[in-house]
Amino acid sequence: MADLVNFATQFADLAPARPIEHLGDTDLTFGGRIDFPLKIHEDGGENGCGGKIWAAGQLLCEHLIDNSDANGLLSLCSEKLQTHGSFTNILELGSGTGLVGICAGLLAKTNGFKAKIYATDIEKLIELMNSNTKLNGLEKYVFPEILMWGEPLAEKYQAGTPSRIDLVLAADCVYLEDAFPLLEKTLLDLTSGDSPPTVLMSYTKRRKANKVFFRRIRKHFQIITFTDFDRYEHYSSKRTYLFQLVRFQ
Ligand SMILES: C[S@@+](CC[C@H](N)C(=O)[O-])C[C@H]1O[C@@H](n2cnc3c(N)ncnc32)[C@H](O)[C@@H]1O
Repeated sequence: MADLVNFATQFADLAPARPIEHLGDTDLTFGGRIDFPLKIHEDGGENGCGGKIWAAGQLLCEHLIDNSDANGLLSLCSEKLQTHGSFTNILELGSGTGLVGICAGLLAKTNGFKAKIYATDIEKLIELMNSNTKLNGLEKYVFPEILMWGEPLAEKYQAGTPSRIDLVLAADCVYLEDAFPLLEKTLLDLTSGDSPPTVLMSYTKRRKANKVFFRRIRKHFQIITFTDFDRYEHYSSKRTYLFQLVRFQ
């Protein structure tokens, strides 16, 4: 375990910079499905791969939009956890620009859904997530925080606390072999206990090595792949998929 934690603390260099692609403020309406476009500033890769928008993030946003009324958003959360307080707690892992968490925040705000959304990533991306949260006027909904995979979970995210997490979101977090055990540990920690949160992940298949992650994760979770949605063909042509992880009890 100590090795895992040491590895995690040294992680900062493991999110390699990617070539600058679409740098700037991108307006996102997801094909006109939301009235007020999300505004996301991309940093062009200066803080690792999280500083740009990825197809998997857009797919997860579209899934949230498709379930965006208050009942729909609530129905995404684990049934047993829907009544624990006035707020639903959503945690996004590897949030990057903040795109998915910010989309969840916008949907919560426009649909009168009481939610606290923790958009988490490595320290270097907090400033970008904070500025994107402000750009969209969602400071009361979206809370950017550091969460390094593999490190012990902050108490407030743990099962059995009033702020426990109802819904975990992770877009394009399976891409770096060295980080697979870290991500696996965090997913296991977040879903320990009797009433685990729903876990929704989107993923772009890039390398055969990613199979290793799914082989590991299948020991603890059932993987339910979503295929029945409008733009399935569009995303599968980009080798980008959406699934839910259900922890074996
Ligand atoms: C490919 S990007 C995806 C960003 C965003 N979710 C999206 O879809 O646009 C992967 C994200 O995972 C984060 N990440 C990678 N390894 C991590 C780790 N060990 N702990 C925390 N975040 C990590 C990176 O910093 C990056 O923001």
